[in-house]
Amino acid sequence: MFPASSTLSPVALRSSKVARHSHVWQSDPTVRYIKAVTYDTSPDGAMSESILGAAVYHVYESSHTAFERSPWPRYPNEVPEGAHAPLCLHYFQTLTKARLDFTKGRPHAYLANLVVDPSFQRRGVGTKLLEFMTSDIIAGSTDESHEQQQSDVACWLDASPAGLKMYQRLGWEEVGAESFYLEPWGGVKGKLHKNVHMLKCISVASSRR
Ligand SMILES: CC(C)(COP(=O)(O)OP(=O)(O)OC[C@H]1O[C@@H](n2cnc3c(N)ncnc32)[C@H](O)[C@@H]1OP(=O)(O)O)[C@@H](O)C(=O)NCCC(=O)NCCS
Repeated sequence: MFPASSTLSPVALRSSKVARHSHVWQSDPTVRYIKAVTYDTSPDGAMSESILGAAVYHVYESSHTAFERSPWPRYPNEVPEGAHAPLCLHYFQTLTKARLDFTKGRPHAYLANLVVDPSFQRRGVGTKLLEFMTSDIIAGSTDESHEQQQSDVACWLDASPAGLKMYQRLGWEEVGAESFYLEPWGGVKGKLHKNVHMLKCISVASSRR
């Protein structure tokens, strides 16, 4: 879907990704970005930050339309340069349809992306990011601006095989799955890519203090 050999140089590819995320961050009020970082101090005392992992999630209220609940990419011109546009649209739109069919206009949160630097994986960074996301959603749903608190918030994600065990350990439950046959899109013959739809209901207090 995102071939390594692109016509773009690594620097140009990175700039185009930064521009896309920056556009989403500024234009989509439902999106939240979080990062896990470590700080290093050089011998001269200067401090530098390294990103260990990041998550992107959306919080949808009942007032959001189906269109607003359908994140990037919605159109061919939103597919990143170098990516396989027809596959990219088919893949993300299939996953979005499954989520919208399941949630049926109800408020929910959606974990769109979770990634940890390979050299820092299996040290609890992914778990910490998920825990932060959960506490952020709870804090948002108990915000004083809300007239009525929700009793729980449903969170949705589409797990790849790499994350499945971690999500199960953290209480996410399988509610469906989607298999993508990638050969027509240039993938390996006979190989399926599977995403498992997972749901977790986060409880929040049901009455305001
Ligand atoms: C999936 C992913 C985000 C997990 O991130 P992570 O930081 O490795 O996650 P954690 O360290 O919190 O947990 C992973 C495993 O390491 C184990 N672990 C955590 N800290 C540990 C430690 N100190 N010692 C040994 N094991 C540890 C956890 O118990 C967990 O085991 P489990 O899979 O059996 O539940 C990461 O592998 C990744 O970025 N993969 C590529 C991108 C990807 O596929 N993202 C989409 C996922 S749907």
